[in-house]
Amino acid sequence: MNEADSEDIAAAFARRGFAVTDELKKADAVVVNTCTVRQRAEDKAISQVGRLRVWKEKHPGGKIFVVGCAAQKLGAKYLKQRFPFVDEVVGAKAIADFEDALADQFGPAETSEAAHKNLFRSPQTAYVTIMRGCSHRCSYCIVPAVRGPATFLPAGEIVKDAAARVKSGAREIVLLGQTVNAWKHGNTGFAGLLKKVLAVPGVERLRFMSPHPLYFKEDFAGLLAAEPRLARHLHLPAQSGSDRILKEMRRGYTRGQYLKLLEKLRAAAPGLAVSTDFIVGYPGETEADFRDTLALVGEARFSMAYCFKYSPRTDRPEMASDLPDAVMEERLSRLLAEVKRVSRLVLDERIGKIEEVLFETADYGRTSGNFSLRVKTGGAPGSLLKVKVTGADRNTLNGKVIAE
Ligand code: 5AD
Ligand code: SF4
Repeated sequence: MNEADSEDIAAAFARRGFAVTDELKKADAVVVNTCTVRQRAEDKAISQVGRLRVWKEKHPGGKIFVVGCAAQKLGAKYLKQRFPFVDEVVGAKAIADFEDALADQFGPAETSEAAHKNLFRSPQTAYVTIMRGCSHRCSYCIVPAVRGPATFLPAGEIVKDAAARVKSGAREIVLLGQTVNAWKHGNTGFAGLLKKVLAVPGVERLRFMSPHPLYFKEDFAGLLAAEPRLARHLHLPAQSGSDRILKEMRRGYTRGQYLKLLEKLRAAAPGLAVSTDFIVGYPGETEADFRDTLALVGEARFSMAYCFKYSPRTDRPEMASDLPDAVMEERLSRLLAEVKRVSRLVLDERIGKIEEVLFETADYGRTSGNFSLRVKTGGAPGSLLKVKVTGADRNTLNGKVIAE
């Protein structure tokens, strides 16, 4: 979401004639788009802001914008007091008002053209935000507080955005939202929206991130089975494999329900790759709870998992006290080892298969299951080609382009 927001911010600059640069000494303005999902993310963002003091001294006319979730959490008053050289603070809830902050500093836009910026993905892939905020309120999570409750963009706007991205060269669309599959608007649900986006001429692959296990409706599996352009990959955060912890986290599902959902989706789309997020060391997590998480990795056959140590973000007096860091570290390294073992098995299963690869460079691309794949020859940026998988290195498949 932050990457998508950063692209919108870059587009707002582009409407005033600015271009993006990596070189601080060339910049007229610096935008720090902050995260606060874990304490470490917030600390990194804040030290980044602190380092800009020197830049501002050397470039007194330069403008500094601090935006996003940490800006929302810490507040303009605090940030401007601590860092008086910051010009504008725009919290995540008000990110749509970024345009106003920019107008204050640099005047009105020169054009109303959308001027999409693709800063984080190769040009054939475009992010399209379909919802903002989250109403789920998982016990550990700061997102609902800093981004506000879920709001859904109208289907018409989403389709228009997707069409504009295709027009500027995208072949793959990634729909974004905190509980992306909870999207609904009027009588249209998430599967209905997917159909509308798939009907946009030129959309060759459709992904979305991140769904929540609770929100898939009956019609989704049917659409997945019928529509090969829907990516054969889901990033479906499990967070824990322990029923007791899942309940404390207020996730709304059991490990059994999670596994059953995977079974159903894999029946609709054989070979569906599933990746996930885990939090280790949730307050009160026992060794037995943790082992349930470890066991889930193999049972669910995850292709990849982001694993995080629990970081206290919410004020919830009923929570057990935090686990010692040494325990969290030890569990994290065991979990990472298990994820590595299972993801290797899942990767190896692809050898010998034929995959459709969307190339990002002449020799590198991604399969529908979101595996990285490399070829020696035959690819071209932006092309979608059939590739026979011949082997696998650490995290990457190797293959040969099959002549059509
Ligand atoms: N501590 C650790 N990880 C967290 N996440 C969200 N909140 C916390 C927290 N307080 C993780 C979840 C989520 C991902 C984006 O960040 O796994 O899916
Ligand atoms: Fe946070 Fe995701 Fe839970 Fe929403 S669904 S509260 S964003 S972890």
